[in-house]
Formats: sequence, C-alpha cells, structure tokens
Amino acid sequence: MRFQVTPAKVKTATVTVPGDKSVSHRALMLGSIAEGRTRVSGFLAGEDCLATLTAMRALGVDIQQPSETEMSIDGVGLHGLSAPASNLDLGNSGTAMRLMTGLLCGQPFDCVLSGDHSLNGRPMGRIIKPLSAMGATINSRDGKPPLEIRGTDQLHALDYQMPVASAQVKSAVLLAGLYAKGTTSVTEPAVTRDHTERMLGSMGVTVISDGGHISLQGGQALRGCDVMVPADLSSAAFVMLAAVLADDADIEIKNVGVNPTRTGVIDILQGMGADISLQNPQLLGQEPVADIRVRSSELHGGVVDPALVSLAIDEFPVLFVAAAAASGTTEFSGIGELRVKESDRIAAMSEGLRVLGIQVDESADGAVVHGGRFGGGTVQSHGDHRIAMSLAIAGSVASAPVVVEDVAAVDTSFPGFCECMAAIGVEIALKSSQ
Ligand code: S3P
Repeated sequence: MRFQVTPAKVKTATVTVPGDKSVSHRALMLGSIAEGRTRVSGFLAGEDCLATLTAMRALGVDIQQPSETEMSIDGVGLHGLSAPASNLDLGNSGTAMRLMTGLLCGQPFDCVLSGDHSLNGRPMGRIIKPLSAMGATINSRDGKPPLEIRGTDQLHALDYQMPVASAQVKSAVLLAGLYAKGTTSVTEPAVTRDHTERMLGSMGVTVISDGGHISLQGGQALRGCDVMVPADLSSAAFVMLAAVLADDADIEIKNVGVNPTRTGVIDILQGMGADISLQNPQLLGQEPVADIRVRSSELHGGVVDPALVSLAIDEFPVLFVAAAAASGTTEFSGIGELRVKESDRIAAMSEGLRVLGIQVDESADGAVVHGGRFGGGTVQSHGDHRIAMSLAIAGSVASAPVVVEDVAAVDTSFPGFCECMAAIGVEIALKSSQ
C-alpha cells in the first residue's frame, strides 16, 4: 500500500486520535495477571496491541472485546498463565516482545516469542542480559528474536543499572521482578515513560520511584481495575505538526495523554516557536490527560536539548519534518537509539527528506537538518509506521504531490490515520502498490 498526499489546506477542527499504544499493551498484560476483572476503554485496536491480545489469550486468559476499543479481561492472577500451544507471534511490536519476555521468563513453562522481519532484526540483548542475571534462561539468534524462554520459578531480585534509557527494558525487569524473590530495582540513565509503574500502582502494587531509581518487591498480587486509555500523544503529534505547518489552522485534539515522561515533543515544538497549549487538564486513573490546542506558527531551528530525547523518543521522525520546515538549521544529538527502532529512523528520515529537497547531515547519533521547502517525490517508509506518517505530513505542505511507499504498518499504531487527516483537511489517498 502507498499514500498519495496532495498538498492541502488544514482547516479548523476538533479531532480525536486513537488510544495510547504503551498503555494499551500494559492494560492487557497487567490485567491478565491481576486478580479479578480489568475493564479497558479507549483501547488502541492497532496491530501491535492486537498481537499482545492474541498472545495473552494463547496464554489462557479469557479476554472479551465488547467493542473495538473495549476489553474485559478476566485476570488469572500472578501464577495463573498456562503454556501456549504454539509460538507467540508478536508481529512488529518491540514493546510486546520485550515486556512479554519479562513477564514470561518467571513462568513454570517454556515458550517461544517471534515477530515479523523488522522485529526479528531488533536487539534483545538489552533484556536478555538483566533477565539472565535474575536467573532466566533465554536463547536467541545472536541477541535477536525468536526468543526461546525456558521457564523457571527460581528468579531472584536484581539491582540493575540500565545502560540505555529504555522503558521497555525497565518494564521487562520490573515484570520479572514480580516473580522474583526479594526487591528488584532499576536505575535509569534518563527518565523514560512510566506507564508500567503507574498501572501497577493502580492495581495495588507498591512501586517506589525515587529520582530514576524504581523498585518493587516480588510476589505482590495485582488487583483488576478499570483502565481508561488516553489518546496517544505520539499519534497526536502528526496532527499537531500538520496544524503548525498550515497557513491558518486552529486544531483541538481531545483527551490526549500528557504524562510528563512523554511530553518532550510539546516542549521541543514550543521551543521551535509552535503555538501549542494544553487545556482541561485532568487525570484518567493515574494518567494525566488534556486537550491540546495547536495554531499555525512559524518554526525556527536551534539545538534540541538531548535531555529531552527519552521524553520524545518516538516523535523524532515528525520532529525531523518540523526541523525541515523551520527557518535555519536544527541540530539533533543523542538520538542513536532511533537506529534500532522499527527501522533505522535517522537514515530513513534523512533519505526521505533529501528526496523532498531538504539537506540533512547525518551522524552516528544525530543529524543536522537544514530548513527549506518540501518539493514533491516518491519516498520510502522502510515499513515503519512513524516514518510513513511523518513523510505524509511533509507532503501536506509540499509544493507538489508526495507518494509514500509501503505504508501498511501505519495500522500498527494509528488505524484511521487517513480519516483523521481528512478531518483536518489533509487529503491522503491510500492506494495499492502495483
Ligand atoms: C515503549 C518504549 C519506547 C518506545 C516504544 C514504546 C514502551 O521504546 O520507543 O514505542 O511502551 O515502553 P524503548 O524502551 O526501546 O525506548
């Protein structure tokens, strides 16, 4: 499939975007090992989270889906999962693979986790190392999936200093820690999204977070609860940038998750001159949400603070587009992790922007983007949902049509992307690639 993007005039509108991917995965996993029922609303029915749904059902959990965005999970308790009949296919989802490995390495059965071509190429040594230090046995193909997990009920606690800032690694260790004897702790080199800690808290688990040091005692029972999933800020970011780049737009996006461990994209765009404000702040359970109002603005380049990287880790593709549309140059550094996401996102964005006439100087862990005007052209998504959507936003303000190839993966995180963009006036036609 490909996108054909016609340069557009963004109109004033109020829109919603689908539920948060990170929170949706965690609701399924934690609800499954809780005692009692967990009701989830606002669930992201995208392919990544649906892979987790299929996996949890294969582990013996009864999960009903009363509507597309609602789940009703009959938790089986910490020790109630059962061996799956076959390998678990986690599709494109790094979150599913890494968190499930943490969850499954302390079960009394074996299982195998695999994924699609992209996921099977991603580094898993970062979870295998700490989980092995807790007593887990995980065989891999040179640190990559498929992962063959040999179950054990003998995990022991670990005090782990994470070498990379990764919420997936932190969460994997904490989930294994629920099954370990003693108190497991993780120290993060930079703050990462804390949805696991917040949801465990909502389910009655005591998690102590103290300045980047997070710990929990093994053996604590989880209590099922109602989870209201906020709209995903990572998806809202595409709408936000389309509005910022437009001539005269005023867009409101309702009920978006604004957990401070996720809001780097807002800070970075505001620092570049974007007119973004948060309205009606409230709490959905333990997660802060707000309506985000965005008005067209002139962006300027600058040096992006590396301290914001882990708070905006998934938004750099769209921030590259912001930088390309800004005046002057924008310098990104400390973003080497982007090279091991669903694609090498530094390379993929640099390549796509160059096709559209933008100069990008790449380095191992950064890039300098020279602001300019987007021309038309055909660009590659490299099968990566966020690259596809970011380049489509560039197309909305290009001087000629833009075609983005290989966009089927957009459904992993933002089903309804084209419809949502149409609601703000951006015409993106989804065509089959011949
Ligand atoms: C996620 C953590 C981040 C992010 C991913 C979702 C999560 O990955 O990129 O999309 O839900 O924990 P890392 O932990 O690899 O940074």
